[in-house]
Amino acid sequence: MKLRTKLKCATVVTAVSATIVLCVASYWFARARFKDLMEAQVRAVAVTVAAGVRPTALASVTGLQSIGTPDYEELQHFLQQVQADNSTSEFPFQFVYLMVPTTHGATTGFDFAVDSTQRLLETGEKNPEWDGPGEPFNAHSADGGSALIESRFVSARYLHDRLGEWLSGYASIRALDGSLVGLAGVDIDHNKILRQLNLLLMLAVVVSLVCATVVYFTVDELVDRFLLPLTRMGAFVREVGEGRFDARLDVETASEFGAVSSDLNAMAQSLGCREQLARQNTALAIDVERKRETLHAILGVDASLNEVQDMDILMERILGDARRLLGCDAGSVMLREGDELVLNYVQNDTIDAAHQRQQRREIQNVRIPVNGGSIAGYAAFTGQAIVIDDAYRIPNDRPYHFNRSVDDASGYRTHAILALPLRTSTGKNVGVLQLLNPLDRSGVARTGFTTEEVETLSHFGSAAAVALERTALTRSIVLRMISMAELRDPNETAAHVKRVADYSVILYEAWARRYEVGLAEIQRQRDILKFAAMLHDVGKVGIADSVLKKPGRLTAEEYTIMQQHCRIGADLFKGRESVLDNACLEVALHHHQRWDGAGYPGIVDVGEKPASSAAVGGEPAAMKGDAIPLFARIVAVADVFDALSSKRQYKESWPEERVITEMRVNAGRQFDPELIEILLENMVQFRAVAARYA
Ligand code: C2E
Ligand code: SIN
Ligand code: SIN
Ligand code: FE
Ligand code: FE
Repeated sequence: MKLRTKLKCATVVTAVSATIVLCVASYWFARARFKDLMEAQVRAVAVTVAAGVRPTALASVTGLQSIGTPDYEELQHFLQQVQADNSTSEFPFQFVYLMVPTTHGATTGFDFAVDSTQRLLETGEKNPEWDGPGEPFNAHSADGGSALIESRFVSARYLHDRLGEWLSGYASIRALDGSLVGLAGVDIDHNKILRQLNLLLMLAVVVSLVCATVVYFTVDELVDRFLLPLTRMGAFVREVGEGRFDARLDVETASEFGAVSSDLNAMAQSLGCREQLARQNTALAIDVERKRETLHAILGVDASLNEVQDMDILMERILGDARRLLGCDAGSVMLREGDELVLNYVQNDTIDAAHQRQQRREIQNVRIPVNGGSIAGYAAFTGQAIVIDDAYRIPNDRPYHFNRSVDDASGYRTHAILALPLRTSTGKNVGVLQLLNPLDRSGVARTGFTTEEVETLSHFGSAAAVALERTALTRSIVLRMISMAELRDPNETAAHVKRVADYSVILYEAWARRYEVGLAEIQRQRDILKFAAMLHDVGKVGIADSVLKKPGRLTAEEYTIMQQHCRIGADLFKGRESVLDNACLEVALHHHQRWDGAGYPGIVDVGEKPASSAAVGGEPAAMKGDAIPLFARIVAVADVFDALSSKRQYKESWPEERVITEMRVNAGRQFDPELIEILLENMVQFRAVAARYA
């Protein structure tokens, strides 16, 4: 039970019972007083009646025969007078009568003599219901007569007879010599007195109820008032609990609650201070964490971007990292080619989300002249970062403007722009990195880029520029190797090489997703695989023209010579340290190895470096199944898929269904069955690649 309820109950019960006891006591007191007064009154009237009676007249009245005598008449007249005098009172006398000492034998007592009423006289008959003159006075009290005689003859008592209940007063009537002549009696209806007493009782009950009600409401109000500070404190504590530390209680110094209130206020204040401190600490921690992330990102670029061999993958990485660094919705990378910037890579989360497509988008053949009035062109030209808050409100005096055609076509709204020229340590401009629409951590647009962010991106840009330059170099060397192969072999066209590379990447990505390989690892491996796949047949440069360029089918001998392209290719990468060289070696050597163990060249000792990771540190494993390096298995599938789909000097191109049937039939024989499964699941992507390099 709540304190309030308890308090109210206790107080109400106490107050109401006190009120009731008081009322009952008052009632009993008033009742006793009232009865006393009534008794005194009947005694007084009886005395008056007794005093008014002539004793000699009374002495002459005896029995019925006295009726009508002058004495009788006189007495009766007197009694009627007395009764009439009292008739207007609230308690009129029902009976006023005189008695005389009894004439019946030896009993001490009284007989009725004269009555105020005339009832008996008029009929002249004795009414059986009625005591007439001469009848013995027979009140219920056994000692009625004698007790009265012995007393001083003034008394009041309650009687009950067959006519009703009465309060009767008596007074003696004496002769001059003091002898007892008779007794005067007056009766008041006792029920009238009881009715009066009942009224009194009802009054007491009503007063009790009224008092109790008043007490109840007074107590209720008082308890509420008493508890108000406690209620306020309760609300206060709840508020503070909900984190509103600026809540304060009124400090009523007069009340005992004042001290507690001021203690509570002090507590809230100190909690508020602590909370603020904690918030500041959190903000600080977040800030430190962001700075750490930034630093990590910049440092990470140096280390990890330099591992990237492929230009496309590198640009995708640079753009992704830069957008993550500054939290941008969109961005693009342009590479410098002479006096032009070539738009290579665009990422836009909003548009991609709208079209539900993957993030990677390579753009072809969008060329922007350096310093052609475009933002990127101007950045490349001046070597300065350009920061714009609203692309649609660039002041007219600026030497550049925003080209809205892309926005207009896509419905995208470009706001803030940061265009950063990518410069190597020697100051050479290799491109422009452009970021759009920065967002805060919860994905809400921010107004623009801060100076600090521009600075951060500049550091990042320097690292990115170096990586781009180095990768461009690697790329150009690899492309030269490929075009050299292309020069020698009419089959190994640039298109074939790129298709095999892209098919391989598709197969690898799906395979890696199946095995839950981490994203960073996927990116790294994908990049390496792309190069290794492009170079799978590079060994064909070592095959004699007579075999390589033979228009028809090869003889067994020629085929043996042709098979050497694996070993020749592997030799090109022998003795190198890098992961890329190793991958290229494995793929070149084993891309004609079959899952069932047939195929060529089998287990080969390529010299100081083990050709296969599967062969490290022990007996060379049989070249079948999982022992064949994954990349070699992948390139085998990609290479044959493309060879079958393409026209060769020695064969026509096959329709897709036939290619698929052939691949499926060879699953588990020539090919890793899981890779064939993946190939079949990803035919949509394969077709897209085939279409791109048709
Ligand atoms: P490639 O033309 O790039 O073919 C690669 C692989 O695709 C072949 O490896 C083979 O496994 C598969 N392939 C190509 N065409 C067919 C086909 O019509 N049917 C089937 N079932 N598989 C096919 P493979 O056989 O080890 O040949 C390696 C390379 O040797 C070929 O590379 C091609 O340059 C050359 N080559 C193979 N056979 C002939 C031939 O009869 N005439 C000529 N001129 N060159 C051939
Ligand atoms: C009367 O009848 O006059 C007196 C009756 C009584 O006292 O009970
Ligand atoms: C009366 O006064 O007649 C009544 C007397 C009685 O029965 O006591
Ligand atoms: Fe080959
Ligand atoms: Fe090939």
